[in-house]
Amino acid sequence: MAIRISSSNDLEIKKAVRKHYASAIKDQAACCGSSSNGCCDGNGNTAQIAKLYEDPDFTSLPQDVTEIAFGCGDPVTLASLVRGQTVLDLGSGGGIDCFLASRKVGETGRVIGVDMTPDMIDRARSNLEKVRANNVDFRLGEIEHLPVEDRIVDVVISNCVINLSTDKPQVFREIFRVLKPGGRLAVSDIVTDGVIPEEIRESMQSWAECFAGAWDAKDYVKAITDAGFVNVKVVPTYMNEEIIQDSLNNSSDPNAQSMDASELKKKVFSAKITAEKR
Ligand SMILES: C[S@@+](CC[C@H](N)C(=O)[O-])C[C@H]1O[C@@H](n2cnc3c(N)ncnc32)[C@H](O)[C@@H]1O
Repeated sequence: MAIRISSSNDLEIKKAVRKHYASAIKDQAACCGSSSNGCCDGNGNTAQIAKLYEDPDFTSLPQDVTEIAFGCGDPVTLASLVRGQTVLDLGSGGGIDCFLASRKVGETGRVIGVDMTPDMIDRARSNLEKVRANNVDFRLGEIEHLPVEDRIVDVVISNCVINLSTDKPQVFREIFRVLKPGGRLAVSDIVTDGVIPEEIRESMQSWAECFAGAWDAKDYVKAITDAGFVNVKVVPTYMNEEIIQDSLNNSSDPNAQSMDASELKKKVFSAKITAEKR
């Protein structure tokens, strides 16, 4: 079951998440633990991040972009974008998925990236100058209150971000508002299966590292359906146990050392999530 968060907690969590990613972008430190090996890695390890991406355009992006990827999947490939579409990336970070989407939608399409951390937006804008993607626009804002007009977006993508929100139902309502009728959601995110230990849930550090805020897949699907979406699908992509162990070993959360990687693997995993607005 999803935990309830009071509004004071909500503000504290948002502050902790913003601080975590502001420092991550400066140090290129990791988000989902400090694994040098996969999910949410931002360790400058482009070879490991490349394993998450099926998109051949990945290799043509500058290292300044690929070394600050903090995702847990490849939402652009999942989205099957076509030329001329308008795409919105929630929690766009340093811009990697916006730049990949930009190539798919071409000059007649456009891509909007939204992120609440000013340092991330600054870095994404400086990357934009290097990538020279004229159809991409980065906006500072929260995914719970999107700085985007109603019904202008064809596809909403996101990579390892919605788990960080303290108000996921509001995020899905906002996605529904900005999508055109017939629009789609294609998201990579961390979800859980069943209850995860209270000590993880209570840790701010674990929240910012993508564990504590993750929802049970069933609650996630219900929140998307409640927002009005149809054809909601969640396909798990389980993480390698060594990656999780590495992440626990390197986590700055003191509770991480006592956690069992083989148990955690079955409970917390990355998923491909899709849905449609009629
Ligand atoms: C795990 S990183 C993923 C970044 C990017 N999607 C990627 O794949 O590299 C999470 C990003 O989401 C942003 N973020 C977290 N919560 C947010 C919120 N409520 N509203 C807007 N951005 C948020 C953070 O600032 C951070 O840049």
